[in-house]
Amino acid sequence: MRILAIETSCDETALALVECRGGITAPRFKVLKNFVASQIAIHRPFGGVVPNLAKREHQKNLPVLFKKIETGNWEMGNIDLIAVTVGPGLEPALWTGIEFAKKLYRQLKTENSKLKIIGANHLEGHLYSFLLPKKNKVSNFQFLLSKNFPAIGLIVSGGHTTLLTLKDLKTRKKLGETRDDAVGEAFDKVARILGLPYPGGPEIEKIARKGNPDATPFPRPMMHTKDYDFSFSGLKTSVLYFMRDNPRASKPDVAASFQKAAVDVLVYKTMRAAREFGAKSITLSGGVAANKALRKALQGDCRKNDLQFFVADFIYNTDNAAMIAATAYLNLFQKKKYPLVANGGLNIK
Ligand code: KG4
Ligand code: ZN
Repeated sequence: MRILAIETSCDETALALVECRGGITAPRFKVLKNFVASQIAIHRPFGGVVPNLAKREHQKNLPVLFKKIETGNWEMGNIDLIAVTVGPGLEPALWTGIEFAKKLYRQLKTENSKLKIIGANHLEGHLYSFLLPKKNKVSNFQFLLSKNFPAIGLIVSGGHTTLLTLKDLKTRKKLGETRDDAVGEAFDKVARILGLPYPGGPEIEKIARKGNPDATPFPRPMMHTKDYDFSFSGLKTSVLYFMRDNPRASKPDVAASFQKAAVDVLVYKTMRAAREFGAKSITLSGGVAANKALRKALQGDCRKNDLQFFVADFIYNTDNAAMIAATAYLNLFQKKKYPLVANGGLNIK
């Protein structure tokens, strides 16, 4: 089945065409086209995403990206399903994608009466992004269900920090989430404190490479609490006070020490969940999954504990539409139907 997916929940306009097979027990994906139009340069002067600017840019970018998809060898008549992100995300941004998807559906339906349209959950998209193949490959997860579940899933993005157990690709339970800032948000805010541009995550990672991660012992909030919740706002405030009191401190040292504190908490709690729930693997996803210090630390602990580690290629960590196609495909086998309206109280369970 061929899925055209549309993602406009935040500041990336993304379209993808993905060939999906195998059902929910052995899903296989081939990403035929994957386009992302980044709005970073537009929002950077404001230090964060401006919802109405995001909407305007999505409206401008969607037809351009669609044209690029259309002008391949692919006949649009071959699409079986249109999938569009319906949340969670910025309301005006989401609506732009939804309206575009509906219009496209009405147009293409005239030539292709079997065409369907469904809504997809952005966070589920991140969660299942590890199923996407490396560039120009077909993923093959036939071995996945028997050998690698139960799994622990860690989603780390600009809006969410969530830990889940997955019994299989259908059955999951949320263990905990952040009580205040998401970890990506903390990276962005700390970057701003250090005078680095938006989005801060990659900037912190870049300068942290030249710093000493043990220079300042920032707190590891909620690391030893019995639950699986997180908190990153206090850590960000510690950096703020530290910079106020030590304005001449080395920025690479501060960035590296902050990054280490955040990574320590994420890895510690994820590994504790893996032990408690007898997990055979760990999946890492969301924008912050692009952070090499986090990937390395989690992968290292997985190796030590004989666990499989799954993380998508770097191109699928931050927002993209290929992951929306993948999650939409899995939805089909769970009779999951998200209404085509922005947000609608939708979160991850
Ligand atoms: O998943 P995503 O693209 O959008 C949301 O759904 O939120 O995540 C964006 C977040 C931003 O906070 C960004 O700073 C962070 O992911 N991020 C990183 C890195 N790349 C992106 N954080 C740390 N290290 C990175 N390399
Ligand atoms: Zn995202």
